[in-house]
Amino acid sequence: MASFPHGVAAVLAPVKGADFLSSSDLTCEQTAALLDLAIQLKRGERRIDLGNRVLGLIFKKASTRTRVSFQVAMARLGGQTVDLDPQVTQLGRGEPLEDTARVLSRFCDVLAVRTFAQKELDDYAKWATIPVINALTDHEHPCQALADFLTMQEAFGDLKGQTLAYVGDGNNVAHSLMICGALLGVNIRIGSPKGFEPLSEVVEQANALVVESGSSITVLNDPFETVRGAQALYTDVWASMGQEEERLNREKAFQGFCLDEALLAKADSKAIVLHCLPAHRGEEISSGLIDDGASRIFDQAENRLHAQQALLAALLGGL
Ligand code: CP
Ligand code: NVA
Repeated sequence: MASFPHGVAAVLAPVKGADFLSSSDLTCEQTAALLDLAIQLKRGERRIDLGNRVLGLIFKKASTRTRVSFQVAMARLGGQTVDLDPQVTQLGRGEPLEDTARVLSRFCDVLAVRTFAQKELDDYAKWATIPVINALTDHEHPCQALADFLTMQEAFGDLKGQTLAYVGDGNNVAHSLMICGALLGVNIRIGSPKGFEPLSEVVEQANALVVESGSSITVLNDPFETVRGAQALYTDVWASMGQEEERLNREKAFQGFCLDEALLAKADSKAIVLHCLPAHRGEEISSGLIDDGASRIFDQAENRLHAQQALLAALLGGL
């Protein structure tokens, strides 16, 4: 674990009341401190009671891990969640976002929003007077990245100088891995088919961050080159939520990009395998690799809970 002379609470104090819309909303030091706090919570070395605070969940896309891990995280912190299903609330009937966000701010202490456009999430943050958390947009999945690097930290100890190789679509998950990895000093390699690379603006954003952390960001089109010698191999679905109609075309474009035993053989001999889930077994990842001894995929899913507990505690000032 990183060492913080004044403790993680001092490092995370400025995060109280802030939004978490992107991995870039935290500094290098705050990201590392949050992971350390998550490990302390996971090991039971630290208990935090936020005192009956309420998290509102606005999810416009399906979710198992994010929804349940936020619900359980709030319960463990002594708080509760309210499910603000857009189909049941007036949101589904067109109540303006700016009114909804202001009203919900009078009932809740924090909101987690899963939606399509990052702009919509930014609008929630603009109008709400309470912290807003990105629970996944088309652009980023920053809560996922916290759990991913927590899993790497558990496997390897120090994250600095380790290499994470992501094989597949340059999507929301890849974007947050690049930014969060850059903050933590992890080398990030993204291997995507031509035309499916991460957005160049995110590559530039991550490249600006590695100036401080000293790691590197590399975008490639060859999966074997991507994974060579890497300590962590990662993939995600080829068609994300909202891209269902592109699925057949993407299946063709992504041939050769299945994370499988042949790719694992080219990685570091102690490499771990990660996937944010849900997975299509036999498509973007071989079924065998999910269940392989190198897989940390189910620890990674569990770590959503610990990472988000730490995040909620920091945003709500419970340290
Ligand atoms: N990884 C992830 O965000 O899973 P859910 O879509 O089930 O929340
Ligand atoms: N890229 C995927 C991640 C799901 C957790 C999606 O957006 O559907």
